[in-house]
Amino acid sequence: MLSVEDHYETLLSDVYTWLMGGFAQAKQQNIAFFSHRNIKPTGSGIAVDLGAGSGFQSIPLAELGFNVTAIDLSRKLLNQLTSNAKTVDIKTIKDDILNFPHHLSEPCELIICMTDTLTHLKSKSDVLALLQHAFNSLEDNGSLILSFRDLSNELKDTDRFIPLRSDENIIFTCFLEYEAETVKIHDLVHLKTNGTWTLNKSCYRKLRLSVPWVEAELLNIGFELQESSENGGFQTIIAVKKVTAEHER
Ligand SMILES: C[S@@+](CC[C@H](N)C(=O)[O-])C[C@H]1O[C@@H](n2cnc3c(N)ncnc32)[C@H](O)[C@@H]1O
Repeated sequence: MLSVEDHYETLLSDVYTWLMGGFAQAKQQNIAFFSHRNIKPTGSGIAVDLGAGSGFQSIPLAELGFNVTAIDLSRKLLNQLTSNAKTVDIKTIKDDILNFPHHLSEPCELIICMTDTLTHLKSKSDVLALLQHAFNSLEDNGSLILSFRDLSNELKDTDRFIPLRSDENIIFTCFLEYEAETVKIHDLVHLKTNGTWTLNKSCYRKLRLSVPWVEAELLNIGFELQESSENGGFQTIIAVKKVTAEHER
């Protein structure tokens, strides 16, 4: 069993962008995501992308005019982000997302943690710490955008084998092994080199976060829920920091 950081370093970072359909397609999906929700800078313009990967969200946000800080544990993916950025400047920081407040000098308008990064944290108490840090770091009316897979329902038997993507040179399959609070994600990558197939395999854990649990904890912290919707197995939650008299005291 590898840590998340080692799993990305040894296996996933080399194929992640390809796995998500390629940079251009993934970027376009996120441009549509932000445009559909009319997300653009209206306050400080400071945005933080937690688990930014190769920039599928950071780059559209920077192109919308946000001043983006992208944080990730994977140096390889952050290097890809910088080369994908081309016309926009994005500050990249290699660190654990739990440390993100140390990298901020001012409250921010937008914090995002998308495409399952939240479930990569080690425990629900780490998730709670992250949500609380987000609330503390946002300016009034600032938003937190989360997207993640609700893994609370267990797949059984052969349904746990999931073909994710393949082409003539790569076949990426995932196998899920359910535990009480977590799922062991076994990534199996068949790679063809000079006509010969080799198998790279690696395993890490994701948290089984249920949507009602995340919603309840956000409300408990003081967020208002602006959106909670499901699309293609991913839940999107947009939570807004509305400062009430109680929080101001
Ligand atoms: C599934 S990818 C999502 C990347 C990007 N947001 C996207 O939509 O493609 C998860 C990312 O989070 C990063 N990550 C996971 N746990 C992390 C942590 N504790 N601190 C920093 N980055 C983390 C991984 O390196 C990876 O780039």
